Amino acid sequence: VRADAEWAREVRRLAEERDAVILAHNYQLPEIQDVAHHTGDSLALSRIAADSDAGTIVFCGVHFMAETAKILGPDKTVLIPDERAGCSLADSITGEQLRAWKAEHPGAVVVSYVNTTAEVKAETDICCTSSNAVDVVRSIPAEQEVLFCPDQFLGAHVKRETGRENLHIWAGECHVHAGINGPELAERAAADPEADLFIHPECGCATSALYLAGEGTVAEERVKILSTGDMLTAARDTGAKSVLVATEVGMLHQLRQAAPEIDFRAVNDRASCKYMKMITPAALLRCLSEGADEVHVSTGVADRARASVQRMISIGK
Ligand code: 13P
Ligand code: SF4
Repeated sequence: VRADAEWAREVRRLAEERDAVILAHNYQLPEIQDVAHHTGDSLALSRIAADSDAGTIVFCGVHFMAETAKILGPDKTVLIPDERAGCSLADSITGEQLRAWKAEHPGAVVVSYVNTTAEVKAETDICCTSSNAVDVVRSIPAEQEVLFCPDQFLGAHVKRETGRENLHIWAGECHVHAGINGPELAERAAADPEADLFIHPECGCATSALYLAGEGTVAEERVKILSTGDMLTAARDTGAKSVLVATEVGMLHQLRQAAPEIDFRAVNDRASCKYMKMITPAALLRCLSEGADEVHVSTGVADRARASVQRMISIGK
């Protein structure tokens, strides 16, 4: 299947026929981002899914994102073009592991990143995304213990920003972001002393960037730790001529569209998420013509997970 104008017309025609809205995450292939009705970060897409009055949501992203849309809209049909599109970070904690961790810390408030399964969300008090994790943790009374899962790098970022000692962090990671490492970032930053650094908080190199700023190698104001959606806002506002981007490479497409005059370069151009890239033009077309793969979340799990997801979409609005 070629992602040409005819393909795009057919995708939009089938979507209309199904009363479907197509949502695409910022890490999707450029042609999928371009054909979608809305492109955005995890938080923005969850909010759009919750507010949409379309009968069907076609989620071009990974499985937990489509599950989140289903939890928020149990009466809607939620489709994902390939249900095998998983997430190594979501796989780093199970419901059973979270239950055991909670038993070790009775009374603690559980904050889970949206990159988790519905079963984990059902054991969670408040979900968050990278764009509101700090606000979510700040909303919890200071004396309460917090369990933060599953991403250790986002957890470290939240701990730094809030200065909170009673925040316990699960040791999970995303294999794509963990692979964007400090030495590589330091080398790129040294080669381009004028560039801004846009760093996703899931990256293993976020701490190194702050270290580089601390020792004066990089000016402190150039280091920006941002969610994918916040990178777009920052791109429109920065005066920099070039920006080094530490996140999944799909992000470059939106950034270049938002600010064509800036030279955006990946810190690691091999940082591609194979799960995100399972949503191919052929898979999207098949999804719309066959109404598959449909995403189901059992009613009991969805009912227990809903409150934590609703808190997530209302905080930091
Ligand atoms: P955001 O779009 O919320 O920054 O999420 C990044 C991510 O890794 C999603 O899988
Ligand atoms: Fe999961 Fe990482 Fe892929 Fe995002 S980039 S979907 S966190 S594996």
